[in-house]
Amino acid sequence: MRSILVLNPKGGSGKSTLATNIASYFSLQGKKVTLADCDPQGSSQDWLAIRPDNANKIFSAALTKDRLQIPEATEILVLDTPAALDDKRLTRFLGQAQTMVMPVIASPIDIRAAERFIKELVELKGTVSNKIKIATVANRVREDTLIAAKLEHYLDNINLPNGKKLPFMTMLRQSQNYIHAAEKGLSIFEMAPSKTYYDREQWEPLLNWLSSKRSLPTN
Ligand SMILES: Nc1ncnc2c1ncn2[C@@H]1O[C@H](COP(=O)(O)OP(=O)(O)O)[C@@H](O)[C@H]1O
Ligand SMILES: [Mg+2]
Repeated sequence: MRSILVLNPKGGSGKSTLATNIASYFSLQGKKVTLADCDPQGSSQDWLAIRPDNANKIFSAALTKDRLQIPEATEILVLDTPAALDDKRLTRFLGQAQTMVMPVIASPIDIRAAERFIKELVELKGTVSNKIKIATVANRVREDTLIAAKLEHYLDNINLPNGKKLPFMTMLRQSQNYIHAAEKGLSIFEMAPSKTYYDREQWEPLLNWLSSKRSLPTN
């Protein structure tokens, strides 16, 4: 089973938005996808609940006492996570996935929080380099702003203790498309291609990475 964790302890960074869109993308690829909402706020769970009957079925995983009950034959597991994780819960989440996607918002506060969190990740020995592949995504970017450029520069230059770069996948713009889709329990990949053309293009590097071996742990 392929497992993808969407995580950033900062609230509002776009975890649920990314998790639901990733889940929908792979379900459109014909995969049996389970979306596990590990956040008590339940945004992904709510999204699953309002999905139209004619949309591809995405399964949900129940979380009881930090234990996930994953439906049988799940091919792709997407984990949406809560904000403000302590080390113990963070380690547990990291242990549950092959790949982690970290969305970061273009704001000074979010960039500083991301810097602190990356340090914390690096201190959890070995995690970043071996057991899980991690990549960042800039989210809610308003292009041609100073802060967008600053975020891009920061994300593009994160070096890990093993000397490798933390891959920075893509910039996703701030777009009402995400909000309109979420309202209907859909993803941007289930909306009119003509309206979401630009957003789909921005997703491509991330989706290619998630579909390739490059996003799988090396050992
Ligand atoms: N790229 C985007 N463009 C516009 N709105 C976005 C985008 N990403 C997230 N949002 C909105 O920002 C809010 C927070 O996003 P959410 O995915 O719920 O973050 P988290 O799960 O990290 O708390 C939501 O209202 C969501 O619809
Ligand atoms: Mg959320």
